[in-house]
Amino acid sequence: MNDQGIDSNKPMATAYGCYTVHENASLLDRTTFRVPARAATLIDVHEFDAVPGLLEEAATQNREVLILGGGSNVLFTRDWPGVVLALRTRGLDVIEQHVPGTPGDAALVRAAAGEVWDDFVHWTLAHGLRGLENLALIPGSVGATPIQNIGAYGVEVGEFVDAVSAYDRTTNSIVRLDRAACAFAYRDSLFKHESGRYLITAVDFLLPRQRELRLDYDGVREELAAMGVGVADARAVAHAISRVRTRKLPDPVTTGNAGSFFKNPIVSADLAAALKSEYARMPTWPLADGLAKLSAAWLIEACGLKGFREGDAGVSDQHALVLINYGSASGAQIWALARHIQQTVLTRFGVALEPEPLIV
Ligand code: EPU
Repeated sequence: MNDQGIDSNKPMATAYGCYTVHENASLLDRTTFRVPARAATLIDVHEFDAVPGLLEEAATQNREVLILGGGSNVLFTRDWPGVVLALRTRGLDVIEQHVPGTPGDAALVRAAAGEVWDDFVHWTLAHGLRGLENLALIPGSVGATPIQNIGAYGVEVGEFVDAVSAYDRTTNSIVRLDRAACAFAYRDSLFKHESGRYLITAVDFLLPRQRELRLDYDGVREELAAMGVGVADARAVAHAISRVRTRKLPDPVTTGNAGSFFKNPIVSADLAAALKSEYARMPTWPLADGLAKLSAAWLIEACGLKGFREGDAGVSDQHALVLINYGSASGAQIWALARHIQQTVLTRFGVALEPEPLIV
């Protein structure tokens, strides 16, 4: 509090037509980890048209810009001295009701980057479209989903992305990147490799009306049976997946977390086979090109770290891949815990774990 009675820590918000500026803003409620951090300037953008001007202004002032979506895949270990742009643009549209040449008929739909992912999934199901049901209840915004190619229960979002519209900060123009250009792979895409270059504005999805449901992932059929569903439709699958997720994963609304903290590691098939001969129960999934995927959760649990806790930073006792802020952990404490896990798994198994969220 200064001598005019102004609290310099109190954020000030100024609303302009299509964006709102907060100076010295808390980011605590802006990420699902709920760690304390501040942005020198936080701007909520409601209309994309404001973005080029805001980026230009930041560049003129030599201030670094960070783009924030739903905040479910970022860990702040420090304050952000520049500008945080939070994209809150909304809009869901059916662009083409019937896309000729698609097997079993499909629709092309466009979702603005700021739409809430799970709401969008349910909107597609209500329109009689299939494909995204296995991705129900994943936290975050639509615009963030192509970046890490979100995936769950046997489906990856990249399968259904027709194109991504993005503002290219190197050319200051809007570009349309088709699925091939997005270079989707397991928890990976062009947007991870060209970090900071593209600001995703909207995503087009090509969604079939008829499609065999994917029920093979462990536990999905069992959940449908427990719900008393005989012949499942896509909405029942979304419901079943939501139930499984709720049971298996801590809810970011009540418990600070960002879902899986590490990717499942991809190693040589030889290393996977050598580990498997020593640890017969270790899950492995063969991949092409002499590679195999291991279960990061299994490796962490085998090191005795499931449920491990240091102060308010811990490993979930529900799922070993999820790091938790039990209350007042800082981002730096969570990151220190993550590095301890990486080191322990590396020493024990010779496998390097790669974090999934963006670490600031
Ligand atoms: N496992 C353990 N201990 C645990 C949890 C799992 O040993 O605490 C082993 C079990 O053998 C289990 C296997 O790991 O069978 C796989 O577990 P799970 O089905 O939970 O899948 P996951 O590979 O650990 C991935 C995604 C999740 C997604 C699930 C379901 C990654 C990094 N994570 O986890 O995504 O929900 O599959 O499809 O690929 C997320 O990205 O935030 C996320 C939660």
